[in-house]
Amino acid sequence: MKKYCIIFLIILTLNGCQTNTNISNNRTDIINKKVDSLLGIMTLDEKIGQMNQYNGFWDVTGPAPKNGDAKFKFNNLKKGLVGSMLNVRGVEEITALQKIAVEETRLGIPLIIGNDVIHGYKTLSPIPLAEAASWDLKEIENSARIAALEASAAGTNWTFAPMVDISRDARWGRVMEGAGEDPFLGSLIAAARVRGFQGDDLSKNHTIAATAKHFAGYGFSESGRDYNTVDVSKNTLYNVILPPFKATLDAGVRTFMNGFNELDGIPVTGSSFLQRDLLKGEWEFDGFVISDWGSIREMIPHGFARDGSHATELAIKAGSDMDMESHLYIKKIKELIEAKKLDIELVDDAVSRILRVKFELGLFDDPYRYLDAEREKEVINHPDNHKAVLEMAKKSIVLLKNENQLLPLNKSDQRIALIGALANDNNSPLGNWRTNSDNKTAVTVLEGMKAYPDNKLIYSKGADVNLNDDGVVKFHEKVKINDSDKSGFNAAKNAAKNADVVVMVLGEDGFQSGEGRSRTDIGIPGVQQELLEEVYKVNKNIVLVLMNGRPLNINWADKNIPSIVEAWQLGTQTGNAVAQVLYGDYNPSGKLPMSFPRGVGQIPIYYNYKNTGRPGPSNTVFWSQYNDQLNTPLYPFGYGLSYTSFEYSNLKIDNKNLTVGNSINVSVDLKNTGNYTGKEVVQLYIKDRFASVTRPVRELKGFEMISLNPGEIKTVNFEISETLLQFYSANEIWESESGFFDIFIGTNSNADLQESFELIK
Ligand code: NOJ
Repeated sequence: MKKYCIIFLIILTLNGCQTNTNISNNRTDIINKKVDSLLGIMTLDEKIGQMNQYNGFWDVTGPAPKNGDAKFKFNNLKKGLVGSMLNVRGVEEITALQKIAVEETRLGIPLIIGNDVIHGYKTLSPIPLAEAASWDLKEIENSARIAALEASAAGTNWTFAPMVDISRDARWGRVMEGAGEDPFLGSLIAAARVRGFQGDDLSKNHTIAATAKHFAGYGFSESGRDYNTVDVSKNTLYNVILPPFKATLDAGVRTFMNGFNELDGIPVTGSSFLQRDLLKGEWEFDGFVISDWGSIREMIPHGFARDGSHATELAIKAGSDMDMESHLYIKKIKELIEAKKLDIELVDDAVSRILRVKFELGLFDDPYRYLDAEREKEVINHPDNHKAVLEMAKKSIVLLKNENQLLPLNKSDQRIALIGALANDNNSPLGNWRTNSDNKTAVTVLEGMKAYPDNKLIYSKGADVNLNDDGVVKFHEKVKINDSDKSGFNAAKNAAKNADVVVMVLGEDGFQSGEGRSRTDIGIPGVQQELLEEVYKVNKNIVLVLMNGRPLNINWADKNIPSIVEAWQLGTQTGNAVAQVLYGDYNPSGKLPMSFPRGVGQIPIYYNYKNTGRPGPSNTVFWSQYNDQLNTPLYPFGYGLSYTSFEYSNLKIDNKNLTVGNSINVSVDLKNTGNYTGKEVVQLYIKDRFASVTRPVRELKGFEMISLNPGEIKTVNFEISETLLQFYSANEIWESESGFFDIFIGTNSNADLQESFELIK
């Protein structure tokens, strides 16, 4: 109990000061004082321990670990040499670990418990890319709030999310984890997620610390191959990659994670430019940086560090504060300090940052505040959480095509053939990055559609997506795609033959996207494409429901199938969300956060490209084009239909001259010209015609979601100020440059209602 007294004394003394001051204004000051006092009584070993994070090793039901790695980690925990753990879950397991940290070590410093809470804890919301398709910042914030609610009730107080990596490459499996290709949308979503996780008081037991990751550039892995080299210009780094990170910082994110990639020849884990100069220097970030899994050690195969000792030295000097599973800090820091290769001040800085976040989480006031078994039972899978993820799921669906208004389906007197293994799959729709949740817990589309009993529904699988045992792919396992077994085709065709409408649910296995899940062929996998074409031969009235964690190549379907619904992987409530959209109880309003290419050869493809010196078109081949394919995507960024239709008109600008400190107003009239109440995301794009560095052909600069009844008209306004026009210029600062700008407003990134104005500085 000795150590308890030391920490308690520090807290008590400083809390005494707190009563005489304005608590909110002085909280940071008080925490900093507590951190300093604690640091002052820590040994070097204890400090190094705080910088050490281990993956879980604890067996809840058994005795303390006895063998190998687990025993080693367990002993270090008892010696106060572990500051954090990841991949430990649930009140029982975490309480056992926290008890050792708090009650058996000299100082009793509590552990911070991190987990990948990426799209929900037990109750899963849609994968992040799908949520981004909602363009609904409030709903996205709420989704992160629900994730924090459940995670915190199960003992987690820190999530390794949001991932804010911009990516233009659908081959990269991790696009499912981000918000797509656009820095403007990506920044707003990044901030919404941080707000959702962290709430307005981190010390509450239902909020958790968030992590902005992966700092920076990971989304630009060459050829979409995970962990591959990244080589981007300063222009792209500042104008495209960094803005969402800055947005999380402004939203108060408490930790950053570096990554596996290099940037300009330097692994980001060892990048002083990124971590020390930019993040902690210029941006004044006072939280801490966690390495990615083993990324400190990976600087050796990168060819940047000689050995483990050198990797440690480089990482700490660069500002990487906590070591996730490289096991290097714990082994090497002490000898580096003794050899005078590392300054103790750098260690003190890292430890102070880690302790600060622990204080902010309230862990020193009560190390067990996230560990209430009753609350855990009450909160996990609460019906309100399911309601919330269902709302999020419906909003994430994007209607890609709807010829002859085949959708919504009639609710009665229809014979519907439901085809595709994914239609009755309760696992794949959960997507990847859901290690805290349970397999096979999604509502299937079949179950969802059964809630509409007045139609005759016939289900026929047609073909499996994967041939893994029991159809379940494990986190580390390769997906064995079914590219041979067509034994179910005939039954499916028979079911389709006599149906009024065929609903086919096809796409990727839930583990075809995510970390280590890059693909070179992004078509509908395995025999499913052939199944689609075979069924089409007997019945053309097909609604194709796609499930996938990335944009797919669906040229054939786009040409032939009358209705296409992009349903991504929508989490626990998938089937209910899809059914409610198919039957028109929810009118889809999602918009693509990533362009859908016409073929892999177009990748990287994105709407905010540069014009080049030869934009064309021209009658010769000598312009920037493909000889065998169009330049344009199949579906552009921002694209998505509704069961109703919208008309844009009357674009007006109140002033053609913009000056610094003032703003101009652009307005447009939006009319619902169809038969359903519906929502439309009105999008504003701006083009900077000429600048000191080349600028994109257009950039998203604003959007608003408008709900309209049939026949209703609303005027939508956007304010444009000089700050909105700033970019990272040839002067290597954020600034605007005077000159002419074009404005485009409309329903997607091809918006063609146009105005222009001049910025006068
Ligand atoms: C590696 C991933 O890159 C990172 O995003 C994740 O948080 C860690 N593993 C921990 O699971």
